[in-house]
Amino acid sequence: MSGQFHRTVAPGIEMRQFQPADAETVFAVVDRNRMHLRQWLPWVDSSHSPEDIRQFIGRVVAQFEADLGPNTGIWVDGVFAGNVGCHPIDWANRSCSVGYWIDAAQQGKGVITVCCAAMLEYLFEESRLHRVEIRCGTGNTRSCAIPERLGFTREGLLHGAEWVNDRWVDLLVWGITEEQWRAAARSKPYLPSTRMKPSLRPPA
Ligand SMILES: CC(C)(COP(=O)(O)OP(=O)(O)OC[C@H]1O[C@@H](n2cnc3c(N)ncnc32)[C@H](O)[C@@H]1OP(=O)(O)O)[C@@H](O)C(=O)NCCC(=O)NCCS
Repeated sequence: MSGQFHRTVAPGIEMRQFQPADAETVFAVVDRNRMHLRQWLPWVDSSHSPEDIRQFIGRVVAQFEADLGPNTGIWVDGVFAGNVGCHPIDWANRSCSVGYWIDAAQQGKGVITVCCAAMLEYLFEESRLHRVEIRCGTGNTRSCAIPERLGFTREGLLHGAEWVNDRWVDLLVWGITEEQWRAAARSKPYLPSTRMKPSLRPPA
């Protein structure tokens, strides 16, 4: 697949496929959020420079071009704020898993929830996937709240499934099928701007 993935998810919130030119900006945000991110994301301690981020972006650009799913940066009012991305799509089973993080300064505003909702819409409506998964560390309450809010089912627990810097983390597996997503999307309309916190709503 060639081309771009670019969405205006809500007023002031944009998602777009990472590009090599984003490396310096992304590194600066990762670098000042190390303590916030490293508790749950294993790649943070090995990201030492913009070059490490450039290599990551090279991999996710290749993934997107191979039709294995987008990995996007999130911009809030034009400022880079975080990431929602697919791990490579398993086309045999039409499934993939999704991961995310956000600048601590932008937490608590619903940005990741609405960006995940937009990613799900793309994966189910345009890519015609059958299933999407999210895995969160037990104890990562903020992360687990996202699949729960979006109508995923908590399906199981993987003991000692991920080495995060200095410890084994148990992972909760959350899943949603295309049928479940359609039902959840009907009853939980997260995309409209009316659900955003006032600071992110457009002026009246
Ligand atoms: C996990 C992480 C991305 C969650 O971020 P978050 O800001 O809590 O998530 P959201 O952006 O969806 O915001 C949700 C909050 O906005 C509120 N909100 C406001 N408008 C909303 C809307 N339209 N939709 C949903 N929630 C909305 C919710 O009520 C919630 O508030 P609360 O925290 O007071 O309960 C963040 O904590 C993080 O980056 N952690 C470190 C990295 C990490 O753990 N990544 C995940 C690994 S599995």
